[in-house]
Amino acid sequence: MAFRAVKGMNDVLSNDSPRWQRLERAFQRQARLYGYEEVRTPVVEHTDLFVRSIGEVTDVVEKEMYSFQHHRDALTLRPEGTAGATRAYVEHKVYARETVTRWYYLGPMFRAERPQRGRYRQFYQAGCEIYGDPGPVADAEMIDMLVGLFRQLGIGELQVAINSLGGSATRQRYREALTEYFTPQVGALSAHAQERLGKNPLRILDSKDPKDQAVAAGAPSMLDVLDDADREHFDGLKRALDALETPYVVEPRLVRGLDYYTRTSFEIRSEAGELGAQNTLAGGGRYDNMVEELGGPATPAIGFAMGLERILLAMPESAAADRAGCYIMPLGSAALPKALTIAREVRARGVRVECDGRGQSLKSQMRRADSLGMRACIVLGEDELSRGVVQLKDLEKHTQREVSFTEIAEQVRALCTVSAEAGGA
Ligand code: HAM
Repeated sequence: MAFRAVKGMNDVLSNDSPRWQRLERAFQRQARLYGYEEVRTPVVEHTDLFVRSIGEVTDVVEKEMYSFQHHRDALTLRPEGTAGATRAYVEHKVYARETVTRWYYLGPMFRAERPQRGRYRQFYQAGCEIYGDPGPVADAEMIDMLVGLFRQLGIGELQVAINSLGGSATRQRYREALTEYFTPQVGALSAHAQERLGKNPLRILDSKDPKDQAVAAGAPSMLDVLDDADREHFDGLKRALDALETPYVVEPRLVRGLDYYTRTSFEIRSEAGELGAQNTLAGGGRYDNMVEELGGPATPAIGFAMGLERILLAMPESAAADRAGCYIMPLGSAALPKALTIAREVRARGVRVECDGRGQSLKSQMRRADSLGMRACIVLGEDELSRGVVQLKDLEKHTQREVSFTEIAEQVRALCTVSAEAGGA
């Protein structure tokens, strides 16, 4: 029987992994430049954690979680990273050690959605969370960091959408205003929206059903019910984005699919590459109540997550990757021991090496060196062995020279460092 991967869950094979690594490195570098440190939390958490933080009446909790019973524990594969990070922040009393905490993370998330381009059941997120900074400058800087990262990756046609969802009191007022608005038109809503009306009318605003969208188009705007403190925060965010010259649009209907947001919410989209309909690269916002709701002291928080698969779809195929690394070809079994020691010396200088011990012909070894994208190639035959030299080929410039055993490791390092500095490694 031939096995296949689970629907909506993908393999990343080695021809694709260099692009993944480039993206992950660029994210990690950007996050560190902005003062974030890495946190790693488990892939599995107690189901209740997600129900409490994401909200019972959300698509994620209602129908997308991979939940299972293990002995007495109700567990779930994490659908996102914020709940676990905040659980860890509270559990380890990080607030008692640091006034402001900046964390980044990277890893697989799981949602049982209908798979399509840019939407998968196992997907990778990279995200950042800040605890202890009430903003709005932190909010603006976070958006600016993301835009900067996407630009570095060559992703164009970016759009930053922002909104304010207000604090708890505002949210309550807005729920009432929405209930009042939707109730007389309940018959025009989808069955699912009718069900949500009594429980969480906010979720009707992001319904994908055209019937709901038509009714929602006339709904009151959250921005009209913001209180003074919320409005001041939102104005501060806009001023800071203006100062950073980061363009944005205000979208009063941007409610996002998770219930924990307060005040700032934002999404970054792109029309670039092969993205198609799933064009939201990153989404996030403030969740000033979550730390307290999970048992910690009242602590403001903001964060975002970006979907790595979507970013890869939007990233331009970079020009042919630069050559790097060294391939060693011993010709004949007598040359093998010396080839192995040279390989070790070159690796000790930080250069990737593959030494071919299969005893293949020169032609087939050359083909492999080329397909691996190696920069340097060392040929060691019986004649070279007796004279204490090797042939060093530069596979980019198509040149060849003879180098002594004592100098070869350093010569390869010099050749490969040049290609790494040009952006290869
Ligand atoms: P989210 O909007 O649910 O937010 O997801 C963030 C990003 O993850 C999306 O913009 C998208 O790029 C990617 N994504 C989500 N679902 C899928 C999927 N099924 N397949 C592929 N990519 C997907 C959150 O998860 C929040 N935790 C963000 C956050 C952090 N808010 C505050 N802190």
